[in-house]
Amino acid sequence: MSETVLPRGHNVQTKARILAHTEVAPGHWRMGLAPETDFPRAEPGQFVMVGLGIAAPRLWRRPFSIHRQADGRLELLYRVVGPTTRAMADLPLGAAVDLVGPLGQGFRVAEGLGRIILAAGGIGAAPMVFLAETLVGRRQRSCEIEVFLGGRSRSDLLCREDFQRLGLAVTVTTDDGSDGEHCLVTVPLEQATDRRLPDLICACGPPAMLRCVAQMALARGVACQVSIETLMACGLGACLGCAVRGSDPAAGYRHVCRDGPVFDAGELDWSVPVETIPR
Ligand SMILES: Cc1cc2nc3c(=O)[nH]c(=O)nc-3n(C[C@H](O)[C@H](O)[C@H](O)COP(=O)(O)OP(=O)(O)OC[C@H]3O[C@@H](n4cnc5c(N)ncnc54)[C@H](O)[C@@H]3O)c2cc1C
Ligand code: FES
Repeated sequence: MSETVLPRGHNVQTKARILAHTEVAPGHWRMGLAPETDFPRAEPGQFVMVGLGIAAPRLWRRPFSIHRQADGRLELLYRVVGPTTRAMADLPLGAAVDLVGPLGQGFRVAEGLGRIILAAGGIGAAPMVFLAETLVGRRQRSCEIEVFLGGRSRSDLLCREDFQRLGLAVTVTTDDGSDGEHCLVTVPLEQATDRRLPDLICACGPPAMLRCVAQMALARGVACQVSIETLMACGLGACLGCAVRGSDPAAGYRHVCRDGPVFDAGELDWSVPVETIPR
């Protein structure tokens, strides 16, 4: 694996042992990791580049959101889609992976908000659990947090129990009607937004969902932050392969690994695809 030039900021490169590894839904795995060196405190929405220590181009480091961080350990939640995630799923307990992180800009949630909506589609639930736990951990009783969780079908609904365990109201939808409301997650989300405008919407999920959430929030003047995904070669601001168009032509392209992956909805140009990956 090639040498990494770390960007400025508080992040590390370290080996991490796999302490837990469970298939939580078909093709979806949760991996618990113990970094060998102190891993900096991450913000929800930040990610790590994961390397498997195999010097094959198709198995270069790949980006994964931090799903949880507690007691010096990290959790990832991932979906098997190609060679790296397939190889990850085969790793036994005790094996080591290589981590670089925490990277990027996470969700920025001010203290004292009255109502926050969290929206997650499919594997987009991965960073939202970390965000929900962090917000609930702030113990602001006056803040109402509502979760909207969507999946193509019941087996794509991830982390429902994690949100419920935090005492949060969770509205579930599936595209095929196999669980919850039979519609896109953006339908009840828009209704809830119109019932009482939230102070902030935070979303992670497939590009079409994020576009819909962003445009809906922008049209109503509601603050909204979205976590987007692009293909990433370096994850470190060096290759410029993760560029997306910003809403301000003067500011030019935004780079997802460095300026994101979490952006204010108004920062991006939603008239063009903000993603480079078909989902
Ligand atoms: C900031 C960030 C955070 C991410 N967090 C998570 C996470 O928490 N859990 C998780 O499962 N995945 C996450 N991803 C996506 C993950 O990086 C890819 O699924 C992974 O790189 C695929 O590697 P692979 O070698 O297995 O498959 P590849 O051979 O690289 O890809 C296989 C197929 O999946 C598609 N694909 C590749 N990358 C992505 C992507 N980013 N999104 C959607 N489809 C993709 C490819 O176009 C191809 O069709 C994140 C991506 C980014 C940019
Ligand atoms: S992935 Fe290389 S600059 Fe963003």
